[in-house]
Parts: sequence; C-alpha cells; structure tokens
Amino acid sequence: MIKDILKSKFVVEICETATNMYRLGWDERNGGNISCLLTEDEVCEYLSPEKVLRCIPLGFDGSALSGKALLVTGTGKYFKNIASDPETNLGIIRISDDGNNAEVLWGFKDGGRFTSELPTHIMTHVARLKVDPYHRVVMHSHPTNTLAMTRVHPLEAREFTRSLWQTCSECIMVFPDGIGVLPWMVCGTNEIGVATADLMNEHRLVIWGIHGIYGTGNSLDEAFGLIETVEKAAQLYMLTAHLPILNTITDDELKALAESLSLDYRKDYLNI
Ligand code: 13P
Ligand code: ZN
Repeated sequence: MIKDILKSKFVVEICETATNMYRLGWDERNGGNISCLLTEDEVCEYLSPEKVLRCIPLGFDGSALSGKALLVTGTGKYFKNIASDPETNLGIIRISDDGNNAEVLWGFKDGGRFTSELPTHIMTHVARLKVDPYHRVVMHSHPTNTLAMTRVHPLEAREFTRSLWQTCSECIMVFPDGIGVLPWMVCGTNEIGVATADLMNEHRLVIWGIHGIYGTGNSLDEAFGLIETVEKAAQLYMLTAHLPILNTITDDELKALAESLSLDYRKDYLNI
C-alpha cells in the first residue's frame, strides 16, 4: 500500500527546515535551495517508481547519480511557501539511466522545475559521496551576516576559516575541516557547480562570495547546523570587526581544543 507522501519524514522535515531558514532571514524571496538524496525504499514507500510524470533535460552530465532519486526545491519558489504547498514548491526527481534527464516522480505541480542550482547540487552530491557514503543533503542559503562578511573579508579559505574559528569555541568543533571559499561567480551555471564540487572534496561547507553558502551533511539537521554555526560566527565577526580586538582564541588554544576532542582538523590552517 502506497502511503501519503505529505506525511513522510522527508517531506515533513524539509518543510520545517525551509520554514526555519525563511524565519531566520536566510532565504528572501526564492533565495536558497535544498536537495536530499532518497533511498529506493523511501521512494517505493510513497510512489510507484515506474510512474514518471515528465522528463526535464538536465543540461549537464548527471550519470554519476543515474537511477538515484532526490527531493529538491523548485526554481523561483519561495521558502516561505514550501510548508503550505509542498507539492507545488518541491519535487522528487530521478536521474535517468543515461544521466541526461531528470524524471519527475512527484511534485512541481504547477509545471515548474527543479532549482537553477541543480548542477552544483548534483556535482556536490557526487563529490561528498566519495568522501562520506552516508552523505545525503546539499543546502544553499543567503544568510545575512555570512554575506556581509564576504564584503569585508578576503575571500580566501584559510583566512576566512581562521577568522571564524577565532570568534567562538564552537567553530573548530563544528567545522574542523574548514570552509571552502569561491570568489563571486555567475550562479546557476555548470562552471560554478564544478568549482564548488572541487572544494567539496575537502570541505562540507563552501561560501560563494557576495552570494551565499552551501552546507552538506547526512541529514537536513546536519547541513542546517553547519550553516547556522557559520552564520552565528559571522555575526560575531561583524559585530566586532570594527572594534579594537582585545581577546581572541589563539592558535595554540585552537590546537589544544581540537586535540582534546581528537578532531580531524585542518592543522595547516593554524600558524603553529
Ligand atoms: P532557485 O530559485 O533557482 O533555486 O535559485 C535561488 C538561488 O538562491 C540562486 O542561487
Ligand atoms: Zn543563491
């Protein structure tokens, strides 16, 4: 018996997450997008896998994820509206066997299509799955303080990561692998997807200068929590960057903290 997909854990959770992101001011208008890999069992519990509603060309080679299904936000759709109408604002797509098309299995009810950032999402899923077989979620957002920081801070991964690590103890604990940073680039392209995925080989977080941030993880909570921690640290940075800094967490202290928790951290990001 096919169950009601609107009651599935993955739809309920993405609705709650998108609402939280909107309420935090991270996703104005249609800003931001989310994709979440689904297992075959999850799809079969709620849908007939042979029932393809329509096919949409991908415009890039998605063959590394052929046969895989993803829950994904729609292009132009407002995070504000996802919870009240999931079937219009979200869709479930499966990458076709030849890797050239997205087969729509559910959603995009008004004839809409997946996010314009799908190249980055798919390429990032491929990169992260190579590092972590349990990886599932890619999340893009426009958090205010993180974006503000990209206007005043050098767009360089090591320096950007260090500045965040120094703002509060939590940072090196939550993202010991540091943050990848890209300069401003044209979004929605295959090129920005390739550049982002390249940094995702080393990091779970990538910043797009003067645009936004990507977080990844095994769950919506994990990807959300990474972005939330960066945004908090960026807020601390922006609240204090113009003031005389009297206290910081030194490199020796960051090292001591990382070692006390046996973290696999970017030792090359410390001046030790
Ligand atoms: P979409 O509406 O196509 O998802 O685009 C939003 C966005 O944030 C672009 O980077
Ligand atoms: Zn964006």
